[in-house]
Amino acid sequence: MQGVILEGVNQKFIVNEVPVPRLNAGEVLVKIKAAALNHRDYWITKGQYAGLKFPIILGSDGSGLVDSVFDDEHKNLIGKQVIINPGSNWGDNENFQSKDFKILGLPENGTFAEYVKVNASSIFPKPQHLTFEEAAAFPLAGLTAHRALFTKAHATKRDNILITGIGGGTATFALLWATSLGANVYVTSSSDQKINAAIKMGAKGGVNYNNKNWDNDLKEISGGIDIIIDSAIGDGFSKHLTYINFGGRIVFFGATAGDLPALNARTIFWKQIQILGTTMGTDKDFADMLQFINTHKIVPIIDQVFGFEDANSAIERMASANQFGKIILKP
Ligand SMILES: NC(=O)c1ccc[n+]([C@@H]2O[C@H](COP(=O)([O-])OP(=O)(O)OC[C@H]3O[C@@H](n4cnc5c(N)ncnc54)[C@H](OP(=O)(O)O)[C@@H]3O)[C@@H](O)[C@H]2O)c1
Repeated sequence: MQGVILEGVNQKFIVNEVPVPRLNAGEVLVKIKAAALNHRDYWITKGQYAGLKFPIILGSDGSGLVDSVFDDEHKNLIGKQVIINPGSNWGDNENFQSKDFKILGLPENGTFAEYVKVNASSIFPKPQHLTFEEAAAFPLAGLTAHRALFTKAHATKRDNILITGIGGGTATFALLWATSLGANVYVTSSSDQKINAAIKMGAKGGVNYNNKNWDNDLKEISGGIDIIIDSAIGDGFSKHLTYINFGGRIVFFGATAGDLPALNARTIFWKQIQILGTTMGTDKDFADMLQFINTHKIVPIIDQVFGFEDANSAIERMASANQFGKIILKP
């Protein structure tokens, strides 16, 4: 089969013939129809991720058809259209993952290949209203945004919700979830074009974080924010204390723009603000997300679709941060 192989840090992807994975008990082989990129894949190519090993086939997101199974009890899955939950071994406590928690695409080979093997418990029915490309866009980023918004921030339609860096993959999912919920959504971006695209998708407004006084502008247009989903962090994070309402929740799962800056502790305790870390999600979070997608017939935003042979252009597009929505890779 063809696989997109990464042989080391700062290397280009190479498309090459590799053996089809051999199944063990409990596993199924999925014929990949579409895969999607996450920032995780980029961090790995740059060596900025724990537990690196090479050569590796990256890719946490994928949709496809069940090709074969190891156990007779899973025979009924053959031929089914599925999407893959990239997280496995979450463990018993729904508040945090166990030490055995793993993400597909390092340490195990991932979805940037014609076939991938996963546990039977990791596959879920593909929403019928979606193409394979659209379905591949959801898993990792959608799950992370869903847990951030619902499990952690307990979002309701009465909330004013801010999503930072709206061009990002995870951010666009947070936007889809929050607008489908009926909440008032505001965004930040480095690009006025992306802000306008978000408004077309149902956001109430947005500000460009490169403008001076963007925090005051945001306070003015929103009247105050209850929930902030911020995967950039960096110096801009301290601005959140300007416009966040009493009882506000700030949830984060990434630090694209750098670490936490100094924060005014008094504002945090006086306004009773919660700052919550989160990472991906449980099997239940994944099932809840799928139900939400099916109920609201949500279609994800796709930035661009690349063939495996153009995997290097795809990761460069992510590095440039010009994308709006998910970058898809196809065999
Ligand atoms: N812990 C987890 O489970 C988990 C899961 C998914 C992602 N993550 C992490 O979350 C982060 C986002 O992931 P992703 O895949 O969504 O990445 P992505 O699609 O590459 O997002 C990049 C976006 O970040 C925004 N950004 C960059 N600098 C910013 C700044 N100073 N202020 C505000 N926004 C800024 C930009 O938005 P604009 O173009 O609009 O300016 C850019 O388009 C990454 O750090 C990733 O590693 C963690």
